Amino acid sequence: MFVDLEKLKEIVREAGEIISQANLTPEQIRSKTSQKDLVTKYDVEVQDFLESRFQELWPDRHFMGEEQVEYRYEQRGFLVDPIDGTSNFIFGIPHFCISVAVLEQGEIVQGVVYNPVVDEMYWAEVGQGSYLNGDRLKNPDFALGEAVFGVGGSPYDPNSIEPTVRLIAKIMEEGDIRRLGSAALDLCYVASGRQGGYFEFAINPWDIAAGLLIAREAGVTVTTLDGEEPPLTRTTSILAAGPKIYAKIKNFIGF
Ligand code: IPD
Ligand code: CA
Repeated sequence: MFVDLEKLKEIVREAGEIISQANLTPEQIRSKTSQKDLVTKYDVEVQDFLESRFQELWPDRHFMGEEQVEYRYEQRGFLVDPIDGTSNFIFGIPHFCISVAVLEQGEIVQGVVYNPVVDEMYWAEVGQGSYLNGDRLKNPDFALGEAVFGVGGSPYDPNSIEPTVRLIAKIMEEGDIRRLGSAALDLCYVASGRQGGYFEFAINPWDIAAGLLIAREAGVTVTTLDGEEPPLTRTTSILAAGPKIYAKIKNFIGF
């Protein structure tokens, strides 16, 4: 049995209120692994809120969130990014979200991604399609030159800088790029066709789990940048695109 999606969306929406009413001050921001890897009081507050609500309603499901001190991946449970796009949140760029994936036997079966600034709720259940608020999503399968292409910068992984720049250059020979700053929303934007594709060389499971299901349910191909299934228990690369653009990027990379 999966979780009650309506209830899950309601709780995520409530968590969105915490972010909408936030009044962030400099002393509420600290760095984690590097100067580019930031966390705020609100990342932790949203995570604690979700964890306690999920525990009340679904006590038999494991909870794992980005801001936990120790990570324990389980086959059955919640995989949560309380704020994806934390740097955007800090600098007042209104593009960030809450991302919650539900896992059964190690597979993502439900996903919710909510941007409280514009009140956009993306959601999906495996085999049932994906939605933005009440509207069903379908990736339009653009050609590379017909769409903008989302890029993630992997700021914590210096090894990824060179290959990222090279792939951007290749894409820009035919298309245009965006670096919006939230991997979860990047995947949702590919689902809806706001972006024709998205790639990133080093990304964590909580950033992509919910968006991955939402994208696939809208007809998007999602793999690593080697064409493999993205693992949900460690940092991975990711490539998401409609079939035409996916084939093109595959050809560029040569996998
Ligand atoms: C980051 C965002 C960003 C991506 C980084 C992620 P965070 O997540 O998703 O778009 O490029 O790799 O770490 O830190 O805001 O949760
Ligand atoms: Ca985060």
